[in-house]
Amino acid sequence: MVKDLSVFLGDLRLDNPLIPASGTFGFGMEFLPYFDLDILGSLSFKGTTLAPREGNPVPRIADCPAGMLNSVGLQNPGAEHVLTQEIPALKKHFHKPIIANVSGFSVTDYVEAVRILSAEEQIALFEINISCPNVHGGGMAFGTDPAAAAEVTRAVKKATDKPVYMKLSPNVTDIVSIARACEDAGADGLSLINTLLGMRIDPLRRRPVLANKVGGYSGPGIFPVALRMVWQVTGQVRIPVIGMGGISSARDVIEMLMAGASAVQIGAAGLRDPLVFPRILADLPDVMEEYGIQALRDIQRVE
Ligand code: FUM
Repeated sequence: MVKDLSVFLGDLRLDNPLIPASGTFGFGMEFLPYFDLDILGSLSFKGTTLAPREGNPVPRIADCPAGMLNSVGLQNPGAEHVLTQEIPALKKHFHKPIIANVSGFSVTDYVEAVRILSAEEQIALFEINISCPNVHGGGMAFGTDPAAAAEVTRAVKKATDKPVYMKLSPNVTDIVSIARACEDAGADGLSLINTLLGMRIDPLRRRPVLANKVGGYSGPGIFPVALRMVWQVTGQVRIPVIGMGGISSARDVIEMLMAGASAVQIGAAGLRDPLVFPRILADLPDVMEEYGIQALRDIQRVE
């Protein structure tokens, strides 16, 4: 029997739950040689700041047994350039809802970037990144304190009519309290988790591998942590959650939806093999059949 892969993020219907994660898919163009972007449910573009940024010094990627470390430092061309150059190029090939991932170093930064990008009609929702572990004086600082997370949420909500999803950090003792603070401040949804703060050392050179010394760990190694955090948060909030962190197979997608997520993002797995997106899409119907699932949106959160 034909399986129904569609899911909902609030009122927004996606043809399927697969969304490339911000920072692992650029603005889509590098993936054009590999597959038709319109097979995706949506895509979350590279974390965009008000002003352009060159990012951190290299090396800013380190390999790990079950994933990778990055300390990119929010390299991006700035909100105005994204609005006038990147999105028009992407729109020629991608006709699905776009998720705009926005980062900032102050509340005003977030608000101004969101105001600029709100002009683009294909942007269906904002994903506000308060969880980047690779920059100082912003990023994760907003996502590790409930009051600061709420302040950004309230300010961004006032700046746009589009739904606002707050992207949360796993580098906290109690992610539920941050999630609740965002919900109480008016967030329409949440995205979690961002990367786990990690480090590698080059024993020969006796120094950290990354120029920034520490970076964000992602990949299959973090999947159980992400699943646990999504499950904890979805048990305590009423707004939709986009689940991410180490997803690399159709079974992982099903597990994440069973943890209460409404859709999923895939990051490190797509960097290792861009064809993971068409592969998971092709595998999903059989895996659904194996677990007796007819429609993804009917999956209930496990207790
Ligand atoms: O460093 C970076 O650009 C990563 C951003 C993030 O993890 O949010």
